[in-house]
Amino acid sequence: MRLSRYFLPVLKETPSEAQIASHRLMLRAGMIKQASAGIYSWLPLGYRVLRRIEQIVHEEQQKAGHIPMLMPTLQSADLWRESGRYDAYGPEMLRVRDRQDRDLLYGPTNEEMITDIFRSHVSSYRELPMTLYHIQWKFRDEVRPRFGVMRGREFLMKDGYNFDLTYEDAMHAYNRHLVSYLRTYERMGLQAIPMRAESGPIGGDDTHEFLVLAETGESEVFYDSEITELTFGERKIDYESREECQAVLEEFTSRYARTDDTHVDTEFEEQVPEERRRRARGIEVGQIFYFGTKYSEPMGATVVDDQGNHVPVHMGSHGIGVSRLLGAIIEANHDDNGIIWPEGVTPFHVGIVNLKQGDEAADLACEQLYNAVVEAGLEPLYDDRSERAGAKFATMDLIGLPWRITVGPRGLKNGVVELTSRRTGESEELTPDQAVTKVAQIYAGKL
Ligand SMILES: Nc1ncnc2c1ncn2[C@@H]1O[C@H](COP(=O)(O)OP(=O)(O)O)[C@@H](O)[C@H]1O
Ligand SMILES: [Mg+2]
Repeated sequence: MRLSRYFLPVLKETPSEAQIASHRLMLRAGMIKQASAGIYSWLPLGYRVLRRIEQIVHEEQQKAGHIPMLMPTLQSADLWRESGRYDAYGPEMLRVRDRQDRDLLYGPTNEEMITDIFRSHVSSYRELPMTLYHIQWKFRDEVRPRFGVMRGREFLMKDGYNFDLTYEDAMHAYNRHLVSYLRTYERMGLQAIPMRAESGPIGGDDTHEFLVLAETGESEVFYDSEITELTFGERKIDYESREECQAVLEEFTSRYARTDDTHVDTEFEEQVPEERRRRARGIEVGQIFYFGTKYSEPMGATVVDDQGNHVPVHMGSHGIGVSRLLGAIIEANHDDNGIIWPEGVTPFHVGIVNLKQGDEAADLACEQLYNAVVEAGLEPLYDDRSERAGAKFATMDLIGLPWRITVGPRGLKNGVVELTSRRTGESEELTPDQAVTKVAQIYAGKL
């Protein structure tokens, strides 16, 4: 992409309505525009990151054996009357009526709809286990939408639903989700800690929320500091293996880590030595639930087991806040000059800055670099505008591409360009070929 042809409406002024860094930076970097309270348009740069995050979520879900699909945003109220949640959900649910006077709602979640799909098509235990998921827009008429995409009214969520014959099978699905979520967040450069939580309107027994520690987080959390030393890393996992998945659950959830809903002071003090007790704030980026037969029973989602009995299936639902993740990633990765994207989610892999647009040698070198980066399978953003160097650097720093290649007539006389890390600010002089090779190796995970 060439910046002169792109749509990147960066703001010079700090928007006064934004209270936290991620919201300010998303507005300043031209990633989103508010359409109305808690509802945003995703401008090209923001849309790119959103797509990258979705892609990672899809890949990790499918590695775990979960099946992608897509359900609509508008749902029939009748389904929700069957589960009893049409009245129970309250004013957070956006209700609409069509021209035939039928009650519809903009889905805040999809337990009813997926249960209806399941009961219509699945009747034998032989088709289990099954986990279906989608990534779809949700609407919740939040009392206080704020912090930009962090607490929106319309937001993008991955929600997945497992259907299993027994409690044990459903717990394996729960554990699979825990493992796949750990991997998902780590690929985005985030540490998200599973914490025991309260189940809320979905209802249920077992539930963990995944929290990214951040001062601006809305949740209060209490945890054993040892937990922040855990990483899933590059280890292999066999998702079919109950033992392996269970071991990961135990490793990541045996230490004290709870949100304020489930926190108990005396237990905290008993279980964690004083020097390891931490009280902090966090951003909820996901949640996993086991809720058993809460929906399958009232809605008649049963299968015939190997004895010929009709039994309601054991279910759970598992969500990732896809659009919220942009905010969480920026909260965890920024400095005074702007965003610092982790390589896994960056909108462009490398920025190319031409210090002297119109200079024949510099223009030619930039074109060649651009092509070489594309050849290497990466996406460059080339600042080919006739701006001063300072303005170009400021834009690159603001939008946070992890790597920048700077090209100027002076360096080119010695056959070199400059490769700069956004995170450390460190630069090195390399030939254009070396610079492209190095960036390619970084993204291939070899450096
Ligand atoms: N209003 C919102 N704006 C942005 N993301 C949200 C919002 N509400 C929930 N999410 C994200 O979706 C994920 C799954 O939703 P869920 O657990 O049902 O939400 P909640 O715990 O707020 O009821 C949450 O972990 C969070 O990351
Ligand atoms: Mg939640």
